[in-house]
Amino acid sequence: MNKRHNSFYLIHKALRVAMYEMATALQHADFADVLTTETTIQQLEELLLLFDSHALGEDHFFNEPLKAKEPAIAKMFEKEHEEDHRLAAVLQQLIVSWRYASTDDKRLEYGQLLCYAFNEFIAFNLYHMNKEEMKLNEALWRNYTDEQILATEQTLVSQIPPEKMMKYAHWLVRGLNMKDLLGWLTPIRQNAPASVFDALFAIAQKHLPTSKYNSLAKQLARPQTTSVL
Ligand SMILES: [Fe+2]
Repeated sequence: MNKRHNSFYLIHKALRVAMYEMATALQHADFADVLTTETTIQQLEELLLLFDSHALGEDHFFNEPLKAKEPAIAKMFEKEHEEDHRLAAVLQQLIVSWRYASTDDKRLEYGQLLCYAFNEFIAFNLYHMNKEEMKLNEALWRNYTDEQILATEQTLVSQIPPEKMMKYAHWLVRGLNMKDLLGWLTPIRQNAPASVFDALFAIAQKHLPTSKYNSLAKQLARPQTTSVL
């Protein structure tokens, strides 16, 4: 197991679980039922915004500086983000077509196309994120120390607006195991303002199963809950 710092490890787990849960929601959706499905579609739009912001952050903070040292690798990942953007644009166009469809048959047809397009989006992103955690990380590790990589990651995270950070936090809570949750929240508890930690911890309380939340609360010395979540 490589002991170097993997800047993408936690956030990619969050983004993967967001895609898995969305894929299930889309498979369950009745695209002729406009009112119910609109909620799922809005969640899909939010997911696309998170992926877009994430790719922009990676390009700005990792790929652009890497161009001076390893131009071929940096450009390859920027190109992959362009493909990611194209796949998201296909989904956005299908969302518009579904919203403006005039019959149930048309809504069902666009819904099916939307599911296929989302499968392509997932397939591409699963492959792409693996590649970043292997090939891009190898290039970062060759050229920077772990302290430099961690400092870049902290700069990237610090420029995320609080409202968007809470959306990422929702998927971090859904996507991480206990060790990851402790690794994510412990330094925040030690270094960030109490209000930031409290807001993140409230998301954990809301979205974790009771037993997992209680285990986390115990290890962070926070009040446990007996409510059924
Ligand atoms: Fe990426």
